[in-house]
Parts: sequence; structure tokens; C-alpha cells
Amino acid sequence: MNNALQKLQPYPFEKLRALLGAVQPAADKRAIALSIGEPKHTSPAFVAQALADNLDQMAVYPTTLGLPALREAIAHWCERRFNVPAGWIDPARHVLPVNGTREALFSFTQAVVNRSDDALVVSPNPFYQIYEGAALLAGAQPHYLPCLDQNGFNPDFDAVPAEIWQRCQILFLCSPGNPTGALIPLDTLKKLIALADQYDFIIAADECYSELYFDEQSPPPGLLSACAELGRSDFKRCVVFHSLSKRSNLPGLRSGFVAGDADVLKGFLLYRTYHGCAMPVQTQLASIAAWNDEEHVRANRDLYREKFDAVLEILGPVLDVQKPDGGFYLWPKVPMDDATFCRDLFEQQHVTVVPGSYLSREVNGVNPGASRVRLALVAPLAECVEAAQRIRTFIEG
Ligand SMILES: Cc1ncc(COP(=O)(O)O)c(C=O)c1O
Repeated sequence: MNNALQKLQPYPFEKLRALLGAVQPAADKRAIALSIGEPKHTSPAFVAQALADNLDQMAVYPTTLGLPALREAIAHWCERRFNVPAGWIDPARHVLPVNGTREALFSFTQAVVNRSDDALVVSPNPFYQIYEGAALLAGAQPHYLPCLDQNGFNPDFDAVPAEIWQRCQILFLCSPGNPTGALIPLDTLKKLIALADQYDFIIAADECYSELYFDEQSPPPGLLSACAELGRSDFKRCVVFHSLSKRSNLPGLRSGFVAGDADVLKGFLLYRTYHGCAMPVQTQLASIAAWNDEEHVRANRDLYREKFDAVLEILGPVLDVQKPDGGFYLWPKVPMDDATFCRDLFEQQHVTVVPGSYLSREVNGVNPGASRVRLALVAPLAECVEAAQRIRTFIEG
């Protein structure tokens, strides 16, 4: 077996199962899970219909490159959403469909990393664990940048030494962040592009939460917005990852895309051809319908807005908690060790949350997730409100 498999950390939910496995929760309270980041709002009926209408496509092999119509729909969506001048995104060269961002983040890393003893994949800390596992299996070392309260829960990129940038092959960004909800400002993205040019690394921007924001008048910028402002029409060294999972409540459709640097995507396409991960044609046709519609995404945001307002009203007075810039998580500081909080909350109130330290790594004695927990506001409003009230009762206990 591949020795690198031994380097993989147990997934946070495995650790959670080990923490809670022997605990008896309060029998009089029904279970509420704020742990898994799985959207629970209804999937759009028109997407389900498009999928059903095209089931006969099961009879054909899909291509890895995907249908031109899907790549065109995605290119136009990117141009509209991130103010990219019309025509800059060539659907033939700048877009690839992927079966959700999870597999794409992983396989992209395998395709891009040039194995060497000093290769680094730099990521935020806390982080989505795929970045770390992908780096280790690609033969690189993960390097973690702490996302602390004092820096708006974003990495302090100015504090990263030149030696790290020199060894960096991929810089993962996650904006809005999981679990912090922090958005990376446009000026920071522009500075990072300059650094990528100076030190020759690729920026992989995981933007799968980009459509979950609060102010309809100001959708958050992404890496493509930064390219547009810089006049960088070739998107050199920049690749973005997007998904229908959170935007459109379609986590089971397994549909997303990567877009950006044509040379990088060419290599990634070659890798994917061997990897064997083409998107089924019926999924592609359903995805076109989803990318072409914004009404269901606005309705989705309305639901999250309502939940954040209601939950923050209950938890704000008793917890150090901030409304995020985007996404569907809260990342509060808790008044005790995070795992203890999580276990005792489960036992007394039958509410499941994720200990922050399960989503982050300790570096130089500091674990940015310690004493924090992640709450995913994915359940229906009434359930989120009930969970918030139980958390408050637990804290006030
Ligand atoms: C930060 C982040 N990136 C990527 C993903 C993967 O999402 P999907 O594969 O459904 O697009 C998730 C899912 O929870 C996530 O939180």
C-alpha cells in the first residue's frame, strides 16, 4: 500500500463519533444535528425535472471535457457573477466540469504538485480536510496559515516568510471560509496574485460558499473578480472551484466546475482523462438548468438570512459569536475546551456540533480551532432556533 495513506488524519466526523459514541444523550430531547455541512433546503424541482427528462443519456459515455453547452453556461455565469468582461472566459479552454468540488480539490492537487522533498501546499487553518489529504497523497507537505480572530479570521499573508512562498506549489484559499465564514478581500486577492507571479505558484480558490451571502446588493468578490480588475484575461496561475451543492441545494447531484488558467486546466484535463471522472450527461444537462437560474439561489439566501438573524439573536447575548461574511456556519468561541463543550452539550441537550480543534491543526503550540465550535445552520428554521435555545440553556446552565 501507498505509505502516504498512513499520514492521513481521521476525518473530523470520525473523531466526533469517537467522542460521542459512548455518551447517552438526554432521552426527552429529540436529536438536532448542527454538525454536518450538508444543505437541507429543498432541491429545485426544475433541476430534478431536467435530470429525469434526460435519463436516457445513461446509454452514452460522457466525455471528461463535458458538453460545450455546459461549459458555455458556466462561462457566462462566471462573467455575470464576477464582473469578468464578456468573452474573456473561453468555454473551450477555461472551464472544466467536475463531480463536486471535493473530488476536484483532491484530483487537482494530484495533477499540479510536482513531487519533491520541499514541496508545500499552503492552506488556511482551520480548513476543509481534503486540502491536507490531497497534499499528503500528492507527495507534498501541508503548510498551515492560522486564521485568527485578530485578523478577521483570514490568514495573515504578510507574515508568511519568503522561504515558504518559494516552496509553495499550491495556495488554497477558501472564501467565504469553512468554518470561519470569512471573506478574503479583493485587495488581498490581488496581492496574492502578485505573490503567485513572483514565486510561481498556483492559487486554488475554493469558492463553493460564494453564493451564500447576506447583502443582495454586494455579492462577495472571488479570484476571477480580482483577475478582471487586474486586466488578467489569461487568469494565469489562478483557478477557482465552484459547486451546485450549497448554491442550489444539490449536494447529491455531484456537480461543480473549475475555471481559470488554460494551461493548468489542460494538464488537469489530461489527469482527469486517466482518473476517469467524467460527469454523466444527464447531470450536465440538469446542471445547465441550475447555473442558468438565480431565482432559486436568492430564495435560498433568504432562508439562511432568516436563520442567522434568529439564531444570533438567541446566542449573541451568551456567546462570543459573529455573523459571518458568507456561508452557513457560525464559529463561536466557547467558554471551555471545545471537545468538552461538544460532548456535554450532546449529553445534556442532544445537539451535535463540531469541536473547532477537529477542523484545524496545532502549529507552534497554537490551535486556531481550540475553544471554538462549528455550527452549521442547515436544518429548517424551527430546528435551528430550538438548537440555539438549547445551546443557550446549556451555557447558562
Ligand atoms: C470548503 C469546502 N469545499 C468543498 C466542499 C465540497 O463540496 P462539494 O463536493 O459538494 O462541491 C465542501 C463541502 O462541505 C466544503 O465545505
